[in-house]
Amino acid sequence: MKIFTEGDYEHMSMMAANVVAPYICSGMTIGLATGSTPIGLYGELVKKCRANKIDFSRIKTINLDEYVGLDKDSKQSYRYFMDSFLFDLVNIDKRNTFIPNGNGDLDKECKRYDELIERYPIDLQILGIGHNGHIGFNEPSDSFSKNTHVVELTKSTMDANSRFFTGEKMPEKAITMGIAQIFSAKSIILLVNGESKADIIREALLGPITPRVPASILQLHEDLTVIGDMAALKYV
Ligand code: PGA
Repeated sequence: MKIFTEGDYEHMSMMAANVVAPYICSGMTIGLATGSTPIGLYGELVKKCRANKIDFSRIKTINLDEYVGLDKDSKQSYRYFMDSFLFDLVNIDKRNTFIPNGNGDLDKECKRYDELIERYPIDLQILGIGHNGHIGFNEPSDSFSKNTHVVELTKSTMDANSRFFTGEKMPEKAITMGIAQIFSAKSIILLVNGESKADIIREALLGPITPRVPASILQLHEDLTVIGDMAALKYV
């Protein structure tokens, strides 16, 4: 495991962009995350693209998760998030960007997503971590999940994400890649910032490996890079 502790969110995002850039330039398949944490990284990648330092035209992206039951055009959807923070701002072919569809036949969608990940194995997976240790929407549980599946969101996740849902009911379910699929990425970058994540990141990286802290499985990954700010990484 490599750990980069940067002074603040801005520097952590710049460091992350420097680590991710070569994967983009080599036209790899990149697993993407949403949430507040990677927004700075996406901003830095957009800057590099505008400066002609990186070219998104050959990559494929596969997002971790999506809410169930939101309108197609909902501003809270992760498709909308990815379009606004990255895809609409760089030279990516949107036909090569994949995000689970949280509407329609969910069993079929899980199968479609499993097949997609099999067809395009993930070279680099970018992750954030929830306050309860979730990765993607894999909430604490009795076992590690394997494939794409539908989950009931926990109260901790609902509380953390409800800030984005002013005037709209927050979905109680989501569709997410499984832990085994995340783990199968050749390389993983885990991003974390802020004092409020210091305890959970310590538990995830230094505590016992348990599905009660889903991110703890990452301790076993052969190519894990953790990039965070000093506030989040003060105990590791
Ligand atoms: P955040 O979410 O980046 O908004 O803190 C991370 C996560 O829930 O995985």
